[in-house]
Amino acid sequence: MSAQIIDGKAIAEQIRIRVTQEAKALGITPGLAVVIVGENPASQVYVRNKVKQTEEAGFISFEHRLPEDTPEAELLKIVEQLNDNSEVHGILVQLPLPDHIDPDLVIRTIDPAKDVDGFHPINAGKLAVGQDSLMPCTPQGSIILAKSVHPDLTGLNAVVLGRSNIVGKPVAQLLIQESATVTIAHSKTRDLDEVCARADLLIAAVGRAELVKKHWIKPGATVIDVGINRVSAEAGKTRLVGDVAFEEAKEVAGAITPVPGGVGPMTIACLLANTLKAACWAAGKPAPRF
Ligand code: GUN
Repeated sequence: MSAQIIDGKAIAEQIRIRVTQEAKALGITPGLAVVIVGENPASQVYVRNKVKQTEEAGFISFEHRLPEDTPEAELLKIVEQLNDNSEVHGILVQLPLPDHIDPDLVIRTIDPAKDVDGFHPINAGKLAVGQDSLMPCTPQGSIILAKSVHPDLTGLNAVVLGRSNIVGKPVAQLLIQESATVTIAHSKTRDLDEVCARADLLIAAVGRAELVKKHWIKPGATVIDVGINRVSAEAGKTRLVGDVAFEEAKEVAGAITPVPGGVGPMTIACLLANTLKAACWAAGKPAPRF
C-alpha cells in the first residue's frame, strides 16, 4: 500500500491564514527584518520567499542585503540597530554567512526576544528546560506535520536522524515535550539502518541525498523528511530531493512528507508565527499557539 502523502504546503497555508488573522486582531503590525550577506543562490531564493510571505501576511518587512565582503563589525552594528528598532519584532540573519564572519557571535548579538530563528543560546536553553520561548522554525514545522498524522505523540518511538543545532537537537527537545521516546541517531551511529527501522516516527535531517532507503523504515511508520538536497538530473538539469529515497520509501511508510512541498513550506509559516509571537510579547499580550 502506498503511504499517505503529508501536504506541507496546505498545512503551511492554513497557518499563514491564521497568523494573518491574529496579526490583524493584535492592533500593532508585526515587523520582520531579514539580513542576507553575499550571493548564495539558495539563500537568495529563501530570502525572496520569506520577504514575499511576510508582506502577504500584512507584516512590515525590513530587508538588508549586504555584499559578500561586509565586515563582521558592520553586520553586528546592523543587528544592534535592529535590536533597538521598536517596529522590528523579529530578526533573522540568513545562514550560511561568509567565512570571515562568526555565525555564533552574530546569533548571540540578536536580542533573544527578537530571535525568531530560536538559535540564540538563551532560547535554546529555554527550549531544553521546557520554558516557552522562540523555537526554531523547521523543528516546529516538523512536529506540526507529525501531529497531523498522530495528534498525540505520547509513547511513540521517535528517531531523529541528525544532531544539528538547527534541526536535530531542537526537534528532539520538542519530541521529549510531546512525551515521545526519543533516539538521536547520526553518521557515527552503529547499525544506523536498524536503529531507524525501529521508529514509529522517523525525522530525517542529515543533509544526505536519499540516504534513507526502504528497508530503513518500519512498515506503517510516519516519515518526516527535512532534507533539501540539489542533485543532478537528466539534460544537465538539477532537482531537489530529500534525505529519504521517496519513491521506494512511500511503498512501506504509513505517511511521508514529499520534497519539495513537505517541511519546506512549514519553515516560513512557523517563522511568521514566531514573529507574531514576538510582537504579542512586545505588546504584553498572550501569543496564539499553532
Ligand atoms: N539557512 C537555511 N535555513 C535557515 C533558517 O532556518 N534560518 C536561517 N537564519 N538561515 C537558514
